[in-house]
Amino acid sequence: MNPVTIHPDPAAAGAAIAADIADLIRRRQAEGRPTVLGLATGATPVPVYRELVRLHQEEGLGFEGVRSFNLDEYWPIDPAHPRSFARFMREELFVPAGLDPKDCRIPDGLTPMPQLAEACRAYEQAIRDAGGIDLQLLGIGLSGHIGFNEPGALAGSRTRLVELAESTRLRAAPAFGEEEVPKRGISVGIGTILEARQIVLLAFGEEKAEIVARARQDEPSVAIPATLLRSHPDLRWVLDEAAARRL
Ligand code: PGA
Repeated sequence: MNPVTIHPDPAAAGAAIAADIADLIRRRQAEGRPTVLGLATGATPVPVYRELVRLHQEEGLGFEGVRSFNLDEYWPIDPAHPRSFARFMREELFVPAGLDPKDCRIPDGLTPMPQLAEACRAYEQAIRDAGGIDLQLLGIGLSGHIGFNEPGALAGSRTRLVELAESTRLRAAPAFGEEEVPKRGISVGIGTILEARQIVLLAFGEEKAEIVARARQDEPSVAIPATLLRSHPDLRWVLDEAAARRL
């Protein structure tokens, strides 16, 4: 079974993962090699980003040589929209940690429909050209979704336009206020994620306890996309005590 680490709270988990990422970056910098990170949005990775920002601002961690690829974005959405994942990443990590925007890729929520298939292929190619993802950070949705790989997503799926599950849109609705939550998104696939050399799956809080247990224990199936990651040779779960309660 994929290993699990349980921390007392999300801040402690975030600090531990940020320390691992900082070690990887520093080792690669010493070797003159790039570090390629796969990044996620949502509440879950925020403690990791907070600590990376602190390491940058207080302990001189530099991000030279770091390239990043985000998992997903709403479609259509303007990258300047307050709820876009592009804006989230700029505010939570890229700007305060001093990452160079040209090294940080996110699927473009304004890609016109006729260019989407090509843009998705180009995103996959850019990941390969960067040397592949060294470490992929992931959260898990209450439905077991991974990025916008909703229930039904195939193990071999690639970057593509997807329909968002109703539960995903409902969860985002308060943040969008009066505005309608986009019905679609662009997401890297399960197949793309499985090619990362290392995967760190984070889950915090009691509300995630049941899906964490099912993702680890149910038969692998498209009904719970996270189960499709279990075959990965270097996947570890990082939980707080509340999310680990059903294990
Ligand atoms: P959350 O979302 O971090 O906001 O709970 C996780 C996810 O849907 O992947």
